[in-house]
Amino acid sequence: MAMDFFNVRVGCLSADTVLPFDLYVQIQDRQVHYLRSGDKLKPDRFEKFVNSDRFYIPNEQRQSFKDFISRRLDDENLHFKNKAEILRESSLSLVEEIYENPDVGKALEDSKKIIHEFVKFMEQEPEGMDHLISLSNHDFYTYNHSLDVGVYALGLGRLIGFSATELEELGRGALFHDVGKRWVDVDIICKKGALDEVEWAQMKKHPEFGLQILNEYNVSEAIKACCFEHHESFLGNGYPQELPGKDIHPMARIIAISDTYDAMTTQRSYNQPMTPKDAIEFMTTKLKDRYDPEYLRVLREVMFQL
Ligand SMILES: [Fe+2]
Ligand SMILES: [Fe+2]
Repeated sequence: MAMDFFNVRVGCLSADTVLPFDLYVQIQDRQVHYLRSGDKLKPDRFEKFVNSDRFYIPNEQRQSFKDFISRRLDDENLHFKNKAEILRESSLSLVEEIYENPDVGKALEDSKKIIHEFVKFMEQEPEGMDHLISLSNHDFYTYNHSLDVGVYALGLGRLIGFSATELEELGRGALFHDVGKRWVDVDIICKKGALDEVEWAQMKKHPEFGLQILNEYNVSEAIKACCFEHHESFLGNGYPQELPGKDIHPMARIIAISDTYDAMTTQRSYNQPMTPKDAIEFMTTKLKDRYDPEYLRVLREVMFQL
C-alpha cells in the first residue's frame, strides 16, 4: 500500500525519548521503516545522523508528531537551549512546507501556529531568545531566510515593547515578507552572481507581487505592509514607493533591518558571510540612513550588546 510521508529534520528529535510515531529513512527513492512507534532512538545510532538529515513520518501520524513537539516544548525539565533547537528544527520543516505549498491561504493559516509557538517560547523562556538567535544562520534557502528574519524581528519587536498580539503579526509578516518571489522567475532567484538590469527590474517587483498575492486573502494591513514596504528606506529612496521613514509601517522597518542583517550574515554560494559584529557595524555606519535610527540602536546596543 502506498503511504504518504512528511519529513522532519533530525534536530527536532532526541535519543532516549519514546517516540509516538513511526520513523522511516529514505534510501534511494524509497522510504524504509527505521523505528516503530513507542520505541526510542538509541544514542549510538542517533549520533550517526547530522542535523540536515531527514526522517520521514507517515502523514496519518502528523498529529502525534505535533503533539510530541508541543509536549517537548512545554516540558519543564528540558533545558531552554534544547527547546530552542527543537523549535527551530521543527519550524523549518513547516516553513519549508509553506514555501512548497501552492495554496497561500493554507500557508497563511499554518503560519499562525508556528509564530504562536515562538511567541510562547519567548514568554516562557526569556533567556532562550539569545540562543534561538545564535542558531539562526547560515544556509541560504528562502524558507530559512524567512524563518531567520522572523527570529530577528521577534527579538527586536520584544525589546521595542510590542505586545504578544503584535509580535504574532510581526512574525507572520516576516514569514511572508518575500512571498512575492513566487512570481519571480526561478532562474533569477537562484542565479549565482550579480543580476543584470532586466533581471534586477523583475526582482525589484517582489514587494508588489507579494501585495497582490496577499490581497487575495484576509490578512491584516500590518502583514501586507511587512511585505510591501520592507525595501523602503528611511531616507525615502527605497522601493517601490519611496516612502519617507515616518510613513513606513513600524513592522516593515523592523523587517527591513532583520532582512539586511540576515542577508549579510548568511553564507550564499557567491559571497562570504560577515560576522554579526561586522554586519551591524556596516549597517550602523554605511547604511545607517536606510533604517529607523531607534530600531538600529536596539539592534546594536540591546540585542547584540555591541
Ligand atoms: Fe525582499
Ligand atoms: Fe528577504
